[in-house]
Amino acid sequence: MDQIVIFDTTLRDGEQSPGCSMNLKEKIEVARCLEKMRVDVIEAGFAISSPGDFESVKTIAGAVKDCCVASLARASVLDIDTAWDAVKEAAEPRIHLFIATSPLHMEYKLKMTPDEVLEAAATMTAHAKKYCSNIEFSAEDATRSDWDFLVKVVDAAIRAGATTVNIPDTVGYTTPEEMRDLIAYLRERVPDSDKAIFSVHCHNDLGLATANSLAGVVGGARQIECTVNGLGERAGNTALEEVVMAMRTRPQIYPYTTRLDTTQISRASRTVYNIIGQSAPLNKPIVGRNAFAHEAGIHQHGVLADKRTYEILTPESLGISVDNIVLGKHSGKHAVADRLRKLGYTLTQEELVACFEEFKVLCDKKKNVTDADLEAIAEHRTVTEETAEAEGYRLDWFSVHTSNFTTATCTVSLTKDGEKHEDVCLGDGPIDAAFNAIDKIVRPAEHTFDIYNIHSISEGKDTLGDVTIKLMSGGRTYTGKGLSTDIIEASITAYLKAVNKLCAATAKKEA
Ligand code: KIV
Ligand code: ZN
Repeated sequence: MDQIVIFDTTLRDGEQSPGCSMNLKEKIEVARCLEKMRVDVIEAGFAISSPGDFESVKTIAGAVKDCCVASLARASVLDIDTAWDAVKEAAEPRIHLFIATSPLHMEYKLKMTPDEVLEAAATMTAHAKKYCSNIEFSAEDATRSDWDFLVKVVDAAIRAGATTVNIPDTVGYTTPEEMRDLIAYLRERVPDSDKAIFSVHCHNDLGLATANSLAGVVGGARQIECTVNGLGERAGNTALEEVVMAMRTRPQIYPYTTRLDTTQISRASRTVYNIIGQSAPLNKPIVGRNAFAHEAGIHQHGVLADKRTYEILTPESLGISVDNIVLGKHSGKHAVADRLRKLGYTLTQEELVACFEEFKVLCDKKKNVTDADLEAIAEHRTVTEETAEAEGYRLDWFSVHTSNFTTATCTVSLTKDGEKHEDVCLGDGPIDAAFNAIDKIVRPAEHTFDIYNIHSISEGKDTLGDVTIKLMSGGRTYTGKGLSTDIIEASITAYLKAVNKLCAATAKKEA
């Protein structure tokens, strides 16, 4: 069976979409998940787009050993030089350059003639090739381009040294049949088409990204560009978990393999959602909470008789734990460590001790601690631990008074550098009052709330509340996360973490 290259662009196309920005530590955490999941290529960012992006591409290139690491670049000398600078230390570096080929983009965005675009594709691919043997060329908005012009551009890119040629459906406009035919057309007409791997990169504006990607493979593409949870511009990109599981579940229709370890899919999905402060829609294919839930009696009956009646995938194949041993206050550190390992977490001794302490605290509040609770504890530990620099204020205690006929009041006591600070404030509800009291003590720079998201980790009224807050200030996002069975406490923790980061950034700027 042919092997399909899985090119993950969660850290570039996914991260550049609104509300999905990540800091360096979070990007490294995602890169580690991707490496463990055994994707073939990690597109770590767009190096020239900001100093922060450059730093994260460079850091990921240095850290990842088992995948190729790519940086995006426009077809310009400076972009390509910067991309190379960022990826050159990678075990397997790739430069991914692109230029638009559709009449609309060439005329209105690039203000270039088709001949100029053709020339730029050739000369800039050749320029990138001087640095790196692994070159990907993308014809942006390919699916709205003239097919014969695409033949010329792809031919020029391959002659100049491109080893992968990507045919993006930039605006999610194409259909499965058209994508299949376009790839087959190019492979047939481009003279040296066998010298490059053809790739598809589909956006999901019409909900067809997965179908279009698979159809592209049927037409001859051997690389799929995708993102974890389908993150990406507008309606997103092709979801990695969907294309991989479709090929695995229907090998007679899609006789292709990947080197992906699918048991890491669930873990990677949770990590990415946790970092961006979202949770999977309940009915999201593969990774939604209802993907394996059977509500209708007729379905439940069938599943009890034989799971295959209504399940085409197994939870085990995605790394969803089906261990029924309930953890509780009598469980020891080894049992917790073992469960965390089975859930896909490789933690340091220090992280393990911290997780175990939080687990014990939770056992006093909740009868049964579920795998979802443990995962939430581990995610909070590994992903959102603050840097020493951003530590700042810590919560000592808080007290709220609220009712539906008086204004809510909150008193908070915070500690910073061994000093206690206490204040009280009114607000429109207990959370607003708590945040106002914190503001009075901390006096953070002016900011707005980009996201205030709260969701329950499991079922039952004693569930953990998981709060994500993203503050916007001066064009930057500051994220804080809190986890507690008390949603006011979780909100205060999340808000404090975000304002501490904002204060650290303000102090740095002033210095
Ligand atoms: O959607 C797109 O066309 C892209 C390219 C830059 C590959 O993301
Ligand atoms: Zn894209």
